[in-house]
Amino acid sequence: MYLDNAATSFPKPEKVYEAVMHAMRDVGASPGRGGYRRSLEAARILFQAREAAARLFSISDSEQIIFTQNATGALNLALQGTLVSGDHVITTSMDHNSMLRPLYALRNRGVELSIVSTGHDGVVSVEDIRRAVRKNTKIIAVSHVSNVCGAIQPIKQLAELCHEAGALFLLDAAQSAGYLPIDVGHYAIDLLAVPGHKGLLGPSGTGLLYVAPQVNIRSVIQGGTGSHSTAEEQPLVMPDGFEAGTCNLPGIAGLQAGIEFVLERGLSAVYLHESALLNQMEQSLRDIPGVTIYGPADPSGRCAVLSFTASGVDSALLAAELDHGFDIAVRAGLHCAPMAHRTLGTFPGGTVRVSPGWSTTSEEIAFFSDAVVQCIAKIRKSV
Ligand SMILES: Cc1ncc(COP(=O)(O)O)c(C=O)c1O
Repeated sequence: MYLDNAATSFPKPEKVYEAVMHAMRDVGASPGRGGYRRSLEAARILFQAREAAARLFSISDSEQIIFTQNATGALNLALQGTLVSGDHVITTSMDHNSMLRPLYALRNRGVELSIVSTGHDGVVSVEDIRRAVRKNTKIIAVSHVSNVCGAIQPIKQLAELCHEAGALFLLDAAQSAGYLPIDVGHYAIDLLAVPGHKGLLGPSGTGLLYVAPQVNIRSVIQGGTGSHSTAEEQPLVMPDGFEAGTCNLPGIAGLQAGIEFVLERGLSAVYLHESALLNQMEQSLRDIPGVTIYGPADPSGRCAVLSFTASGVDSALLAAELDHGFDIAVRAGLHCAPMAHRTLGTFPGGTVRVSPGWSTTSEEIAFFSDAVVQCIAKIRKSV
């Protein structure tokens, strides 16, 4: 049983596999690299995928969407493509290494960085962010939903603060895209980083960055774009200038099918399914003596993942027991967010993180909960 959809979603809807195979077997060519029919068909797939993503995030011009390899690629482009020495950026202690490491690298190149600690529930205080604002604050960069404890950040208020402070709002939607409604206009999002392979149900190696029209962004990868070939400088034409090199057409075709699946099902249905499973899991886990669940106390303040520890039980050992004894895949450890664990009080051992998906059933969650009880009893007995 696969319960690690926060890392990458599995299985994918059947149409995703079909779209990948169609792009590989029937189309074959690269978009924008020829005037022949196969290449035009590839360009059509690319366009339709951009249009599907634009529909999901209420983006009026799909050309403002740049396809990337994953959310990490989108975050690197957003940060490296906008920040220069002397700029200041604010992020939170709940953010992922894919946000923090590019920022540490930029700090070494003269960018000022403030990391605001969240509360012990993983939610950042807008007032604390406000206090960190400086005259040169260029970006406030926040993950919408914590990949460690599922805490949902107050993005409407953060967007308003960005507006007041004259800063750009960068939202890392790695754990929220495909689960929570994200309307780039409503939330005044300037830069939206999204993985294609998690909640959008596309293949690995897919992601995207939305760049609002008013944002000036530089390319971080230079190379062939299939156009402006005599120019020595990278053409900063949206989106091609930022997608140098041959694109991942099979992945993007699959991503389109994944987005269509989410759109057809409806975000509220996806969210209700997910939260019903998380609530069911939480209720069973709370009955186990010594189990602690992290994140906001109110389940409506959480989404996508449930993280827990059991006293006297090593999280990595528990995950290994679940895998070997019951064929259940969950993730244990720091989940690429060490600072989040320092804030939650779960450093260095980390937590066991469970993330059901669109095809997970209530029966599977019941099986999982029984398995956890048995594994904890076994481990406690052996120590
Ligand atoms: C909050 C958050 N940001 C960024 C990432 C990086 O995503 P990707 O693996 O698509 O690069 C993840 C991945 O788990 C994440 O949870």
